Amino acid sequence: MEKRFIVANWKSNKTVGEAEEWIKQVSGDRLQVPENIEIVLCPPFTLLALVHSQLKAQNLPFALGAQDVSPFPEGAYTGEVSARNMVDLGVKYVIIGHSERRKYFQEDEPVLTDKVRESLDAGLTPIFCVQGKTTPIPAGVKIIAYEPVAAIGTGQPDSPENADEVARVIKEKIGPEAMVLYGGSVNEGNAANFCQQENLNGVLVGGASLEADKFLKILENASQI
Ligand code: PGA
Repeated sequence: MEKRFIVANWKSNKTVGEAEEWIKQVSGDRLQVPENIEIVLCPPFTLLALVHSQLKAQNLPFALGAQDVSPFPEGAYTGEVSARNMVDLGVKYVIIGHSERRKYFQEDEPVLTDKVRESLDAGLTPIFCVQGKTTPIPAGVKIIAYEPVAAIGTGQPDSPENADEVARVIKEKIGPEAMVLYGGSVNEGNAANFCQQENLNGVLVGGASLEADKFLKILENASQI
């Protein structure tokens, strides 16, 4: 069976107490996740250590991801979180190039390329967000999330067929080993449909990952295909 990713991006949400409650709710459910599905939970930096220890304690089959990474190695870069800092916390994946980073923090191609390099050097796997077929993808990236800006947080997802076509073009460019996810208003009603597309390898979920019951439903629906 082909590998599939379900990535939860909490963005700048959740306090310690709220994260604990979410994990408690998810742990209470008898989660049956097929082996080909990799669930990646991406909380804010402030919650990485807590989530790491609680995922372990509850024996949850989730990998840990970060939402961003410094473009520099560790050193005198006040406020930045380096890839090495994160590996130490059990982080395996990192989202790079999200449209919110590009828009609000002016992240451009050179800085994104540096972030990818730093991540790969430290052993983290980038999940690189592109906004369309022509968005440049730095060398070494193998997991790409197609996230059209108009679909993010709007309740207006792209069609699964169009997302599949974009994924096909990206795979043609990067190579058959590339995996392409779709993100943008994914919810419990449409996740399975995106996951079913020939060229899509899963979904990246923002808003709908914040509530444990919605996220569990997405996992359940995506596990059945
Ligand atoms: P959304 O966000 O699911 O809330 O649309 C997705 C994302 O921005 O990664």
